[in-house]
Amino acid sequence: PACYTSALFTSHVPAIGAAMDLGKTEEPYWKKLFAGYEWTRRWIKENTPDVIILIYNDHATAFDSTIIPTFVLGTGAHYPVADEGYGPRPVPDVYGHPELAAHIAQSVIQDDFDLTLVNEMVVDHGLTVPLSLVFGDVDEWPCKVIPLPVNVVQYPVPSGRRCYELGKAIRRALDKWDGEPLNVQIWGTGGMSHQLQGPRAGLINEEWDNAFLDHLIADPLGLTEWPHMEYVDEAGSEGIELVDWLIARGAMDDQFEGGAPSVDHRFYHVPASNTAVGHLVLSNPVAQPAPVAEELPQEVHA
Ligand code: DHB
Ligand code: FE
Repeated sequence: PACYTSALFTSHVPAIGAAMDLGKTEEPYWKKLFAGYEWTRRWIKENTPDVIILIYNDHATAFDSTIIPTFVLGTGAHYPVADEGYGPRPVPDVYGHPELAAHIAQSVIQDDFDLTLVNEMVVDHGLTVPLSLVFGDVDEWPCKVIPLPVNVVQYPVPSGRRCYELGKAIRRALDKWDGEPLNVQIWGTGGMSHQLQGPRAGLINEEWDNAFLDHLIADPLGLTEWPHMEYVDEAGSEGIELVDWLIARGAMDDQFEGGAPSVDHRFYHVPASNTAVGHLVLSNPVAQPAPVAEELPQEVHA
């Protein structure tokens, strides 16, 4: 099987990418934010996966009103960095893992999730900013990335429950992989509270964001019941990006469902541009060792 290791969650604000690309990370406005990722940058050096399944949302970059797929699985080998108006970010292109992606497609679609398979697309800040935050400035990304963009731009958006269940289906696929041994991380990205337009532009809700983090950690099933209007009311029209995180959470071990995984790192910071930045690294607790043989009743042989 593919060894599913940890889940990582982070916001993706485009200005964070610009701060890195323009050498502004030491400026007072940005310093504290980047400090919140130092733990992760050390951790990822010891824990570089072979493949990241990166859940994010496209921002009418690769997709627009022509086609609105709810869940896309990137089954291609190469994804160029998008030009979002200022030229492509000066970061490496992204390379996929077509064999693992094809396996996930086969398993997840036969498991009743109708994914849209996309072999060619550009990737926008929703995908590249999380990679930059975690890996820093690099000449090439140190692992393969399977992009999984979720539609949260055009209504209707998927429910938290659907996202969580998709995560479970992806995990079942990983557990069935019988190709080369692979360490796989699943990242859930986007959010936290922000609204970019209208009378409530600039909205931040620290209390709600932290409640979201608490529930994501310890009560994911309860969190799946939160309707999308709650995200919009409480976290702003773009706060709905947070529903992406439930896919990564759903892929964590079933036996701990409803219980808490270990929180390896937690960070929250306001502001980055118009957005609250949240970041978590979670891992499943190590399974309890089986009782030692002496304590088991002796088998009786005829
Ligand atoms: C901002 C945040 C986003 O999630 C996004 O996609 C674009 C802009 C911002 O805060 O500026
Ligand atoms: Fe966004």
